[in-house]
Amino acid sequence: MSGAFRPTYSETMEDYDIVGPALKIGTNDVVFSVASAGDNVFHAAMDGARLVLGVDIAADQIELCRIKHAAMTTLEWSEFARLLGTTPSAVQDRARLLGKVLEDPRLASLRQQWSAPALVGDGLASCGALSLFMSQFRQGLYSVVPADVVRRTIVERDANARAALFATHFATPAFIGFLEAALNEQTIAGAFVPAWAFSRMLEQPFAKYFYEVLRTRIVESEPAANFFLQRILLGTFLDPGIVPAYLQRDRYDHLRAASRRISWHVGDALSVLRTLPDASVDAFNLSNILDWCEAKGYEALWLEVTRAAAVGARLFLRSFVAGRDLPAVDGAWRKAEAEAEAETWHARDRVGYYSRYELWTRAAT
Ligand SMILES: C[S@@+](CC[C@H](N)C(=O)[O-])C[C@H]1O[C@@H](n2cnc3c(N)ncnc32)[C@H](O)[C@@H]1O
Repeated sequence: MSGAFRPTYSETMEDYDIVGPALKIGTNDVVFSVASAGDNVFHAAMDGARLVLGVDIAADQIELCRIKHAAMTTLEWSEFARLLGTTPSAVQDRARLLGKVLEDPRLASLRQQWSAPALVGDGLASCGALSLFMSQFRQGLYSVVPADVVRRTIVERDANARAALFATHFATPAFIGFLEAALNEQTIAGAFVPAWAFSRMLEQPFAKYFYEVLRTRIVESEPAANFFLQRILLGTFLDPGIVPAYLQRDRYDHLRAASRRISWHVGDALSVLRTLPDASVDAFNLSNILDWCEAKGYEALWLEVTRAAAVGARLFLRSFVAGRDLPAVDGAWRKAEAEAEAETWHARDRVGYYSRYELWTRAAT
């Protein structure tokens, strides 16, 4: 379906087990979060925030978030899981479930674009361009490491056996050559970072870095428990119990109740922030949107988050590129110290391909 409508992200590849503990969201908190596919907006609401603003400059991302949101209020969990792709189903079943969700009168304007069955073929969580990229990545991968070997490596519980499988099948010139062809300036500039920022990417060559990310996630941590790794390398969830919190059966009632405290906003972060009162936001999840800002936009965004942040507010960001100095807001923010904590975040992050993380706290000025 090349050329057909599809959002960029349909699942958020940013580990909430890093974001959540960093932001320490409390029950009275107002949270400002980049939306992407919505997963971490749902998670922040599940953490008890009083209000979560899910914000995205891309209208189709917010449309997808609103569809997921409507799905969780309309469907039973088993239907929700099939529609999202947590559990297997046929395309006709998913298309029917999506049709049912789109009957919501508030989604009337989305029906035409979103009712294409191809969008739900593998589940709504797989409909995005990044999922398509990963699916093409897997086709190439399986030509050098057969799919059954990849799967066997991920499900293997014994760390020594996994290390042996990795050494035989992944620590090879063929696999490394595949990564170099799949992840280079032509394929990732404009997707992971803007093309103009590619030369500022910290981890160059990215393919070499990503090899190490995969090696540590496969050999040194537990791939059978890492649904992010399974999504990247297998394109599926191995176990419907090992999925993001918002897709878990036993959290569904909680999710449904929590989701009432979400509002969605199409717009760039700066313009949405400008609509908020001074000192009204307690936590910011900025993803890596600062990577996409040139100098002026970078400064303007920091000034605006500084104005909108309550004293004590936390701000979490991640980045693929080298750090930049804070603009004139210096003194208003304290950076979590720093290198040691960032190292831990990187090691614990089940996705692991971001180069840098920063946690800031708004100081009284
Ligand atoms: C920064 S990207 C990173 C995606 C993420 N790694 C994931 O796996 O979902 C997330 C979203 O930020 C949005 N975005 C980028 N710049 C933005 C801005 N200035 N304001 C609001 N949203 C922005 C993009 O449209 C995209 O949907």
